Amino acid sequence: MKICFVSQVWLISWAILLVPHSIGAFGETKNNVISSIFLSPKFELGPGSVANKEFFDVDFPRGHVAIKSFNAEVVDELGNPVPLYETYLHHWIVQKYYQPKNITYQYENISWARNSGMCQDNILVQYYGLGSETRKTDTLIPDPFGVEIGNPAYIPKGYDEKWFFNVHAIDTRGVKHRVGCTECRCKLYNITKDGDGNPLSSDYGGGLACCPDEAKCKLRNGFQGPKRSLYLRYTIKWIKWNHFVVPINIYIFDVTDTLITSNKSKGISPKHNCQIEYQVKPCIKDHKNGSGCIYVNRTSTPMQKGGYVIYGVAHQHIGGVGSTLYGQDGRVICSSIPRYGRGKEVGNEKGYVVGMSTCYPKPGSIKIFDGETITLEVNYSNSRRHTGVMGLFYLLVAEHLPHQNL
Ligand SMILES: *[C@@H]1O[C@H](CO)[C@@H](O)[C@H](O)[C@H]1NC(C)=O
Ligand SMILES: *[C@@H]1O[C@H](CO)[C@@H](O)[C@H](O)[C@H]1NC(C)=O
Ligand SMILES: *[C@@H]1O[C@H](CO)[C@@H](O)[C@H](O)[C@H]1NC(C)=O
Ligand SMILES: *[C@@H]1O[C@H](CO)[C@@H](O)[C@H](O)[C@H]1NC(C)=O
Ligand SMILES: *[C@@H]1O[C@H](CO)[C@@H](O)[C@H](O)[C@H]1NC(C)=O
Ligand SMILES: *[C@@H]1O[C@H](CO)[C@@H](O)[C@H](O)[C@H]1NC(C)=O
Ligand SMILES: *[C@@H]1O[C@H](CO)[C@@H](O)[C@H](O)[C@H]1NC(C)=O
Repeated sequence: MKICFVSQVWLISWAILLVPHSIGAFGETKNNVISSIFLSPKFELGPGSVANKEFFDVDFPRGHVAIKSFNAEVVDELGNPVPLYETYLHHWIVQKYYQPKNITYQYENISWARNSGMCQDNILVQYYGLGSETRKTDTLIPDPFGVEIGNPAYIPKGYDEKWFFNVHAIDTRGVKHRVGCTECRCKLYNITKDGDGNPLSSDYGGGLACCPDEAKCKLRNGFQGPKRSLYLRYTIKWIKWNHFVVPINIYIFDVTDTLITSNKSKGISPKHNCQIEYQVKPCIKDHKNGSGCIYVNRTSTPMQKGGYVIYGVAHQHIGGVGSTLYGQDGRVICSSIPRYGRGKEVGNEKGYVVGMSTCYPKPGSIKIFDGETITLEVNYSNSRRHTGVMGLFYLLVAEHLPHQNL
């Protein structure tokens, strides 16, 4: 993802709540799980407006620790959770970076630390990131596994490890077309050019290029509403690193990844071209039959390093009906299905993807071998058109299981 530098970063993370409790760790020790609640810097939204903000050096657990879970939601100035039909949380992502200690301008010469995923060019390198589904999606990693951060051995000499947030939210109070605004339809935002001023292609109906920071989605005639201050409130559970913890690698698969395979005669190595978003074309009316209309997309990619699957979850937008990762022999590695809200209350907003089902295979039961080709299949309902949809899959993999007889 393209990164611009923000000129000002507020550090107003005031709320840190420590709730230590004991959970059984592998074997004889007990780890104190610490639960910390943080607030992102503030962003402001009025009816129809978009915030696509980048915050550097956000609050995060410091030191050599294992992250056990990460949850987030949008709250207002009083700390009240905001429903998705008012502020649609398109996505938030959390990236790790290294900051030179000796540089005065804070964001000069940083280098991004990436996850273990295959996408290139600093795309989808985040450690965590979800969207509207964040309130009802499990992220807790079972013991004795954890996401290792802050290991001094991995931080380049002369650098500090820091964390970056991108938060993309759309205020849909009073808009003409709620789903259209959340799907970033170019017509509703009156946008015809991309961020660099180049005209968007005519078959690009919508997506991130049409809902950049400060864009405005079309409002109902005469609608007025107050601007408000919002925050991403995020809760991180973590433990101090110890030798019982088994680190896991984070992979993100993207269904738009078109692996351009190597051309030995030219010495070109494989290149993963991840687009992040795509368009779902509507099915032709005559073809609507009993089974409904499903738009199926697939991509296959080898995983250089295998291991044991500990957790999996997909990310889909409105219209999503499920996605699955398959192994080379066709076995199911993980299926993840969107959960749609049915009411009015926060966490259950009608018509929105409010959660994703997750996979917690018994550690050891699902193994990916080194070099195995993994296929991602992503389904959307296309009884109507969707723009700017995503088909991502997070897979957490441990290279080894805990040693027996500790
Ligand atoms: C920082 O970046 C600038 C501009 O790219 C470059 O000229 C300079 O050498 C870099 N400094 C360090 C310490 O890497
Ligand atoms: C800062 O530290 C880096 C890494 O140790 C070094 O390469 C660079 O020359 C230093 N830059 C300045 C301005 O001191
Ligand atoms: C849409 O954008 C065009 C050119 O950027 C501008 O002339 C026009 O007034 C805009 N329309 C609306 C409804 O804002
Ligand atoms: C590989 O490179 C050769 C030589 O330039 C070219 O003829 C061939 O079409 C390339 N193949 C692919 C798959 O790109
Ligand atoms: C109707 O659905 C079935 C799948 O159940 C599919 O094989 C068939 O092609 C569909 N018919 C048409 C006309 O699209
Ligand atoms: C998704 O599948 C459709 C239909 O098979 C295809 O036309 C389209 O190019 C695919 N999109 C992506 C991003 O792979
Ligand atoms: C996607 O749709 C195809 C065709 O209807 C079906 O065979 C497959 O099981 C579906 N996959 C998922 C992950 O829902």
